[in-house]
Amino acid sequence: MAALRALALLLWVAAAYPVLFRARPVQALAVNWGTRALHPLPGDITVRLLRDNGFDRVKLFEADTKALQALGHSGIQVMLGLPNDLLAPVAASVNAAEQWVIQNVSTYVSKYGVDIRYVAVGNEPFLKAYKGKFEATTLPAVQNVQAALVKAGLARQVHVTVPLNADVYESLDGRPSSGDFRPDISGLMLSLVRFLLDNGGVLTINIYPFLSLYADPNFPVDYAFFPAPGAPPSQASVQDGNVLYTNVFDANYDTLIAALEKHGLGAIPVIVGEIGWPTDGDKNANAANAQRFNQGLFDRIIAGKGTPRRPRMPDVYVFALLDEDNKSVDPGNFERHWGVFNYDGSPKYPLRLANGRPIVPAKGVRYLSRQWCVLRPDASPADPAIAGAVGYACEYSDCTSLGAGSSCGGLDARANVSYAFNQFFQAANQQKAACNFNNLSVITTTDPSQGTCRFEIMIDTGRHELTGKSPSAAASNHLVVSSWTALLLTMASPLLAHALINTLAAS
Ligand SMILES: *[C@@H]1O[C@H](CO)[C@@H](O)[C@H](O)[C@H]1NC(C)=O
Ligand SMILES: *[C@@H]1O[C@H](CO)[C@@H](O)[C@H](O)[C@H]1NC(C)=O
Ligand SMILES: *[C@@H]1O[C@H](CO)[C@@H](O)[C@H](O)[C@H]1NC(C)=O
Repeated sequence: MAALRALALLLWVAAAYPVLFRARPVQALAVNWGTRALHPLPGDITVRLLRDNGFDRVKLFEADTKALQALGHSGIQVMLGLPNDLLAPVAASVNAAEQWVIQNVSTYVSKYGVDIRYVAVGNEPFLKAYKGKFEATTLPAVQNVQAALVKAGLARQVHVTVPLNADVYESLDGRPSSGDFRPDISGLMLSLVRFLLDNGGVLTINIYPFLSLYADPNFPVDYAFFPAPGAPPSQASVQDGNVLYTNVFDANYDTLIAALEKHGLGAIPVIVGEIGWPTDGDKNANAANAQRFNQGLFDRIIAGKGTPRRPRMPDVYVFALLDEDNKSVDPGNFERHWGVFNYDGSPKYPLRLANGRPIVPAKGVRYLSRQWCVLRPDASPADPAIAGAVGYACEYSDCTSLGAGSSCGGLDARANVSYAFNQFFQAANQQKAACNFNNLSVITTTDPSQGTCRFEIMIDTGRHELTGKSPSAAASNHLVVSSWTALLLTMASPLLAHALINTLAAS
C-alpha cells in the first residue's frame, strides 16, 4: 500500500515536473574539436563558443594541452582520443598505457579539473584503407588503457571506446536487418565489443552521408539528408520488413545494431562519434547542403528521436566545430571545411538550437590587420614566374577553396593568383616578406573578396598569446615569426618553410 502510494506520488511529481525526469537536458549537444589549424582559435574563446551554443560534450583527437587546459572547470564533458600511432606502443606495454593515462588523463582530471568521460582508443583503426595495419594492436591497447584507468582509480568515471568507421559492417542486400560485420574483422569486432560491454564501455561509430554521395555520383541525393517534416519520403527509401528507412543515417546506424543483435551484443550502447557535412572543396560541399543536413541532425538530437531499432537518439558528436586549414587533404579538398563554424568561430550559416535559438559566433577574437596580399595590378597572370609562385604559396597554405565547384572556383586568373598569394601571406602572419613572390605581389587594404569567395584575414595568435598567462609560449611564437622574415626574404628552403609552418601551427 505504501509502495503504491509512493508510486502514485512519483507519477504525480513526474507529471508536474517532467523536466526533472529527463535523463539530461534535451538541448545538450556534442561536437568534435579538432586543432589542426595554422591559426587555432584560442582555447578560452573556443570553450566559450561551445558553452554559448549549448555544446556540453566535446571530443578531442589527441591530448592537446591548450584545449584540455581551457576545458578545465568548464562543465563540458570530454572524450579524449589516443591517436593511432600510439596504439602499437600502448598495446605492447602496460607501462606505456599507464604513463599515457597519468600524463594525459589523470593530470588533467586532478590538476586542471577536466571532466574526462571517455578515452577513445585509436581513430577508425579498422578502416579498410589502413589494410589491417592497426588490427593486431587495437584490442590489446584498449585492454591496457582500461587496466591503466583502473589502476589510476578513474575507471568509474572514464570509460573506454573505439571510434570506428561505418565500413566495419555491411548489408549485402541493402536492408539494415541483414547487417553483419565485415567478414575479415568479424571475430575481432566480436572480441572488442564483448570487452567494451564487460567493462562499461561504449561503441562509437562515424557515419558520413556526405561521403556516400562523394563516393558514388549515382547516390540518391535526398536520401543523404534527413527528410523535412511533412515531406514525402525519398524515392530511394528502403523497405525493410514493415519499417521504411527514409534516410541513410537511420539505415546505416540500424545496420550496425542488427549486426550486434545477431551476435547477442545488442546491449552495447552505440554512440555516433562523427557526423556532419562540409561546406567547401567539392560540388556537394556548400553552405546550403551543410545547413540542410545539420539542421535535420540538430532537430533529431533536440527531439531525442533515434532510429527504428534504437528509438532514443544516442549521443551524437557533430563533426566538426571549426574548419582546420592544416589537415591532410588525402580524403579530398573538403577535409578542411567540416566546421559548423569558420576557422574564427563565426557561423557559416544559420542553425536553430533548442527552442529556435540561433547559433552565435565566438566572442573576443583578435585578427591580424585588415590587409591582403594580391597580384600586382601591373603584373600579368601569364608571367612565367606565376605558376611556381602559386605552387609555392599553395604548398604551404590552404588553397582548397580554389578547386572547381568550390567557393573560389569561379575566380578569373588574376583573382585566382591573388587568392593563393593571400593565403600564404596570412599563413605567415602577414609578414611583409611573405608578400614578395618575385615582385609579382603587393599588399592592399582593399578587401579582394568577391561572390562566395572570401579572402580571409587570419587570427592574431601572437596577440592572444601575449595576453594569455604563458610568456614562454608567447616568446617562442615571436621567435618563429622573426625567423619567418629571414626565411621568406630568401625563399630558400621549402622544407624549412614547411617545418616553420608546422611550428606555427603547433605553437
Ligand atoms: C600524451 O598525449 C600526447 C598527445 O597525443 C602524446 O604525444 C604523448 O606521448 C602522450 N604521453 C604519453 C606518456 O604517452
Ligand atoms: C586557379 O588555381 C587553381 C589552383 O592553383 C587551379 O587548379 C585552377 O586551374 C586555377 N583557375 C584559373 C581560372 O586560373
Ligand atoms: C618591382 O616591379 C615594379 C613595377 O614593375 C618596379 O618598379 C620595381 O623596380 C620592381 N622591383 C624589383 C626589386 O624588381
